[in-house]
Amino acid sequence: MSDEDSKDPKESGRRHFLETVTGVVAGAGVCGAAWPFISSMNPTTDVLAKSTSEVELGDIAVGETKTVDWQGKPVFILHRTPEQISEVRNDQSAQTKDPEQDEKRVQKPQWLVVVGLCTHLGCVPLRKDKGWLCPCHGSFYDDSGRVLRGPAPKNLILPPYEFLSDNKILIGKVEEQS
Ligand code: FES
Repeated sequence: MSDEDSKDPKESGRRHFLETVTGVVAGAGVCGAAWPFISSMNPTTDVLAKSTSEVELGDIAVGETKTVDWQGKPVFILHRTPEQISEVRNDQSAQTKDPEQDEKRVQKPQWLVVVGLCTHLGCVPLRKDKGWLCPCHGSFYDDSGRVLRGPAPKNLILPPYEFLSDNKILIGKVEEQS
């Protein structure tokens, strides 16, 4: 005990408490910083499972959209009608901003799968007639997820996915464990 401590036992106790709390907080900070690093070195089954999402398509009616979570991001799945398909395949205005053929953006014509984040600043667009409208600055995406107008520079992003069956997809890629 220092001379200072012996003068005021209350002050000594308070200082000891503060030192202890500081040590605990600092330790927690180190653990927090280390976790993502350690976790990335050795991905567990749980981590791998979170990087993919299996989605049932059978409950999405024709013309309806389902939003699912994939890696913390919304993914829009639109079950397109024959009319929606022919419209996006004939719409020449979709070739102006970020030209891309609808055929290159889908694996099966009736199913559109896109990440539901606006490519301008990341807001979540809202489902509207004939596409999605971003409420933040007015970008509009068609039923192929292609930007038609507004400040968004790119079409909605296509996540990696595969069909596990006619009515089930797996979004994301299962990474190989070495
Ligand atoms: S974030 Fe969507 S238009 Fe700006």
